[in-house]
Amino acid sequence: MEVLKNLLGESRFVSDKEKLVPYGSDYTEDLFFRPDAVAFPKTTIEVQAIVNYCYQHNIPITPRGAGTGLSGGSLPVKGGISICFEKMNKILSFDNDNFQITVEPGVINQEIRDFVESKGLFYPPDPASKGSSFIGGNIAHNSGGPRAVKYGVTRDWVLNLEVVLPNGEIIWTGSNTLKNSTGYNLTQLMIGSEGTLGIITKAVLKLISKPIQNLLLWCPFEKMEKACEAVPAIMSSGLVPSALEIMEKKGVDLSIAHTDASLSTEENHKAYLLIELDGSSQEKLMSQAEELFETLEPFEPGEVQLADSANQKENFWKIRRSIGEVVKRESIYKEEDTVVPRAKLPQLYNGVKEIGEKYGFDSICYGHAGDGNLHVNILKGNMINEHWQGKHLEKGIREIFQLCKSLGGTISGEHGIGYVQKKFMNEVFPEHHLQLFKSIKRVFDPKMLLNPNKIID
Ligand code: LAC
Ligand code: ZN
Repeated sequence: MEVLKNLLGESRFVSDKEKLVPYGSDYTEDLFFRPDAVAFPKTTIEVQAIVNYCYQHNIPITPRGAGTGLSGGSLPVKGGISICFEKMNKILSFDNDNFQITVEPGVINQEIRDFVESKGLFYPPDPASKGSSFIGGNIAHNSGGPRAVKYGVTRDWVLNLEVVLPNGEIIWTGSNTLKNSTGYNLTQLMIGSEGTLGIITKAVLKLISKPIQNLLLWCPFEKMEKACEAVPAIMSSGLVPSALEIMEKKGVDLSIAHTDASLSTEENHKAYLLIELDGSSQEKLMSQAEELFETLEPFEPGEVQLADSANQKENFWKIRRSIGEVVKRESIYKEEDTVVPRAKLPQLYNGVKEIGEKYGFDSICYGHAGDGNLHVNILKGNMINEHWQGKHLEKGIREIFQLCKSLGGTISGEHGIGYVQKKFMNEVFPEHHLQLFKSIKRVFDPKMLLNPNKIID
C-alpha cells in the first residue's frame, strides 16, 4: 500500500485505524466494517492507478459517496480500500445549448440543482438526502425522491458515464445525445449497479427548463387507507403532481418533535398527503388545485392547507424529508423500501401492519405514494435482540417482500439492495435469474474485487 500512499500523499491515503472509523459505516442501521485504508483521489487517472494496484494485489475496493445510503452499499464488508470521492467534486462543464452538465462523482446533488437553477434550468431527481448525498452515489443506487412521480428517477437523467472498470480500463458508456440505439446500453447497466461493475468518475446529466411556479398542499386524513386510496384517484384525474408523498402521523409527530418544523395536528388525523403541482402559471395551478380538492372529496380529507409562502413550503418539506432521520433518533430500526403498482398501496399498507402484528413489531410508513414506493421503518421497540437480529424478524420481512411480489411489486424502489437486502433477492428472482446477475458481474469483475458481497454473493 506504500505505493498508493506515495502516489496520493499522506493526507489522501489514510490507513490510521482511528481515522478510518467514519468510513466504516453509512446511514444503514448500526452496521460497521472498518476498511484497511481510504483513498481520496482527485482525478480519473488516480482512480485508475488505485484500481490497477488493487487488481494486481487482489485487494477489495469499495467506492463511497457521502455515506447516506440505506442499504449498506458503501460498507467495506471485506475490508480493503475504500475510494472516497469527496475530492472529485467539481462541475466540469455546462452546456447551455444542449441542456447538459458534466460533473465529477463527488458533487452534492443540491449543488448541481443550485448551479443549473441559476441558469434557469432544472435537474429533477431530489432524494431526501439531496443536501449531502453525492451524485455518484445517486447514480450508483438509481436514487429517486419526491419529484420522481412526475420527472422519473436518476436513471432518466443520465446521458453518459465515464467509468473505471475493475481491470483499470477506462470507458465512456454511451454518448452525450438524447437518443442512442448503438449497442448494449452500458450507461443504464452501470446506473443502479451500486459500484459492483465499475467506478463512475464523470457523469453527463440531462437538464430541462425550470418550472417557475409551484403549489404545495398539505392534506390530512383520518385513516392511512383513505390517503392511500386517494392516490390512484389523483393520478387518474388527469393532474400530474410533481410530488405526491404520504406519511403516517407517527412519522410526522417525530419530525415535529426533533426539528424546528411546526404543524398544528388534530388527534383524529392519522395520515397525510403532501401534494405539489408545478408549472408556468400560478393561475393555472390554482385551477388545478380546485380540481384536486374535488378529486379528494370522496376520501374525506380534513382541512387542506395551502402553503402560500416559501417558508411554509420549506416547513412542510422539512416535516416530510426529516422522517427518515428522526426515526433513527427515536429507536433502532430497519428500513424497508417496498414498492408496488400505486393502486395496490392500500393492500401493501394493511399487509405490512398485519405482518407487524403477527411478528410483534411496530412500523412507521411514509414515502412516495405516487410511485407506490412505501418506506417501512420497522421499530425495534421491545423486541428481544435474538428476534431482532435473528430469523424471527427476517421471516417477517420476508413476508412483507412476498406481499410486495404478490401485488406486482418488488423489494426496493430506490434505496438499492446493497448489503442488507441481498438475502431477500430470492423472493423476487428465481435462481436462473440470479445466476444471470452473477455472470454479468463476472464479465466485468472476474476477480470479484469491486464492492464485493453487494447485490449478490
Ligand atoms: C426518503 C428517503 C428515506 O424518502 O428515501 O425520505
Ligand atoms: Zn424515499
